[in-house]
Amino acid sequence: MTVRLTNTQIQQAAALIKAGELVAFPTETVYGLGADATNPVAVKQVYQAKGRPSDNPLIVHVHNFDQVKALAIIPTPTVAALVQAFWPGPLTLILPIKNNALDASVTGGLKTAAFRMPNNAATLKLIELAGVPLVGPSANTSGKPSPTTADHVLHDLDGKIAAVLDDGPTKVGVESTVLDMSVVPPVILRPGAVTREKLLTILPKVLDNKHHVATNEVPKAPGMKYRHYAPEASVIIVKDAQDFNAAIDWALKQSVQVGLLATDQILASQDKIRFKEQFSLGDSVVSASHKLFDGLRYFDLYPEVKIILAQGFEPKGLGTAYMNRLEKASGTHYFEK
Ligand code: TXA
Ligand code: MG
Repeated sequence: MTVRLTNTQIQQAAALIKAGELVAFPTETVYGLGADATNPVAVKQVYQAKGRPSDNPLIVHVHNFDQVKALAIIPTPTVAALVQAFWPGPLTLILPIKNNALDASVTGGLKTAAFRMPNNAATLKLIELAGVPLVGPSANTSGKPSPTTADHVLHDLDGKIAAVLDDGPTKVGVESTVLDMSVVPPVILRPGAVTREKLLTILPKVLDNKHHVATNEVPKAPGMKYRHYAPEASVIIVKDAQDFNAAIDWALKQSVQVGLLATDQILASQDKIRFKEQFSLGDSVVSASHKLFDGLRYFDLYPEVKIILAQGFEPKGLGTAYMNRLEKASGTHYFEK
């Protein structure tokens, strides 16, 4: 059920932001942890509340392209074309910034910054009323799955933030595509719902991060090097649906309780006696992406479950983003027959 946010609530949230407080906000991807991007004291509190390493820069959330132009250098007209095609929406653009336009607490000391216009009416209004762009990392404790509901936010951050604007579960469920437009050709640093295929309708060429970063190089999206999305139990990816039986056999031999994170079809075909808990990913890669983080968090309620067998999807389209998050949650651990 979608909760309607009243204008008064959004105004209250904007007043808190202006006063330097932290307010979590809904987006179409995951909930963000908002603070005034022009207030370094508030921005530092964001890192503290999340327990986030300070060399991992934040996304600057705007309500229109003019806010970006005030801070960043627009290296090519293609940027405006991307904005036109995908904003508001799950695409974050890395752009070179004007001298001293943003504090090092936001950029991690880089000469570039990340910008995004989220597709959520309440949050766009919040940014407009606050009168400043908002930093907004995912509103989770660093290392935990990103929050897709206000309850997830409160589970991790209750008492550490002033408020959360509750707009019900997020739609997409995986974080935005991060596209580096400060280099030629542009590079996808983090896959998301604005897929490579969609970007290629606007860009003549786009590279994937894995082809771009040499192993001895510092990762281009600093956040990608940290442990992420990890529940308490070990996550093991079952790449082929027909291997679930064998994977359960194997897990039971380890003498531990097993949890299944899979589509309805897989869950219906398994003998319930053989596993302890289950969480449905729905019936497609779209529903699976929407539910993945909720599912990973679900198993933390059952500490006796030590192994989560999680369904893989083909890494194409949205499947690329889904598999990227699942690989991180599992430490790239695949079931092998
Ligand atoms: O969907 C999303 O993007 C969500 C919602 C709340 O907007 N936000 C989010 O923020 O996922 P966060 O902080 O969890 O992830 C931001 C990513 C990190 O991997 C970070 O390293 C990268 O963007 N990033 C930020 N600034 C960068 C920069 N200047 N250059 C390269 N990567 C950057
Ligand atoms: Mg995050």
